[in-house]
Amino acid sequence: MQAWLRRKNIDLITVHEEGRRLVPTLGWPHLVALGIGAIVGTGIYTLIGVGANLAGPAVLLSFLVAGVVCACAALAYAEMSTMMPAAGSAYTYSYAVLGEGIAWIVGWSLILEYSLVVSAVAVGWSGSVVEFLTGIGVTVPQAIAVGPHAGGVVNLPAVLITFAVAGLLVVGTKESATLNAVLVVVKVVALAVFVAIALPHFDAANLEPFMPHGFAKSMGGDGVERGVMAAAAIIFFAFYGFDAISTAAEETRNPKRDLSIGIIGSMVGCTVIYLLVALAAVGAMHYTLFAQSPAPLALIMRELGQGTASGIVSGAAVVALPTVLLAFFYGQSRVFFVMSRDGLLPRALSKVDARRGTPVMITLFTAVLVAALAGVARLDEIAALANAGTLAAFTAVALCMLVLRVRDPQRPRVFRAPLAWVIGPIAILGCTYLFWSLPQRTQLWFLAWNVFGVLVYLLYARRNSVLGRGGDA
Ligand code: ALA
Repeated sequence: MQAWLRRKNIDLITVHEEGRRLVPTLGWPHLVALGIGAIVGTGIYTLIGVGANLAGPAVLLSFLVAGVVCACAALAYAEMSTMMPAAGSAYTYSYAVLGEGIAWIVGWSLILEYSLVVSAVAVGWSGSVVEFLTGIGVTVPQAIAVGPHAGGVVNLPAVLITFAVAGLLVVGTKESATLNAVLVVVKVVALAVFVAIALPHFDAANLEPFMPHGFAKSMGGDGVERGVMAAAAIIFFAFYGFDAISTAAEETRNPKRDLSIGIIGSMVGCTVIYLLVALAAVGAMHYTLFAQSPAPLALIMRELGQGTASGIVSGAAVVALPTVLLAFFYGQSRVFFVMSRDGLLPRALSKVDARRGTPVMITLFTAVLVAALAGVARLDEIAALANAGTLAAFTAVALCMLVLRVRDPQRPRVFRAPLAWVIGPIAILGCTYLFWSLPQRTQLWFLAWNVFGVLVYLLYARRNSVLGRGGDA
């Protein structure tokens, strides 16, 4: 068989050699918290302004489109992750269903997604902290506050938060998950405060004109691509994170039940919260007044004369955004871990520390990579590129679900996605449309990343694959 077509055996997917196995310590409340922790972040706290700038009040539709596509993808994730409760998420499912070549591209895209999200959120967090410190009279020198693109040398707060989160993950998965649960409550309460205060100020006049830039992506005279779909392609960033839960499958005590509760529960919860926040935001104030702000929700509170609430919202962003870092960092190190265990990346990286039960080597490797990027990167561009990687992974998972329904219809499915032949195509076509709606520059970067990936596959991964050497990884 051609190397790129070889597939993992689904029945052996959860069987691993001694010393390369993760310890199961998580239950479903941890998973729901991990999911909401990963989902609610820079997307709703910051990119809601970017979205409003691209779509006007119709950013509400952008939220709806991105939410529906993500909900369909989440159902496919739930079916796949309960059938194959192994670390590695979309990469592992693709390896078992679509073959090694596609799995490599999906894994390579996941690396892009997870590391860029971590870097993007670290940069966003750094911005909030610098603003917060300025507010209390502490000035952070420009040279260490922002990357070179904004006139600095290195974004030190972004680098430091990355290493702090890596340290937590090295200490142990259970401890990180518990701290995460506490911080999740903080940021959800802050959003609830926002909705409770802003919604009573709803004024239908603020929704006019509703769709100033049309629905499909179109190029404006200033060279910026706008429209409801252009905004949806960016707002998509706000919705994902539930997929990080599926990378925790191997460390979940009762994966079959808990994974579906975790994925669907966190996804539904966040969609409801987002629609309320978006409605409250565009209804309380005309979008042109907050669209350019790096902290739109806090700005709206301040403009409504609610200084304390504004402090709560921005304070919660500072304290709780690291949960997003934690979840994606976790996902990133686990994807690296599994790809290395499969021999597609160097095997030395997948050793689990005997005392802590965590993959220390790979976590540190990830930290160095992501911190280097966070130190110098630009927030808006990396967020869009992270979306491209995620869209590729979501498409692959929906495809895996449909292929397995045909190829292996009798295999027991603990969670069976309802109306698979409706939600699967919606997820695939929706992700494709969102990808098409991304800025053209982002699409080209994504292509370049994958051309590089294919070269790595041909020169290294294909030859070192454990599966290729007769093992079952
Ligand atoms: N959904 C995550 C966020 O909005 C990535 O920060």
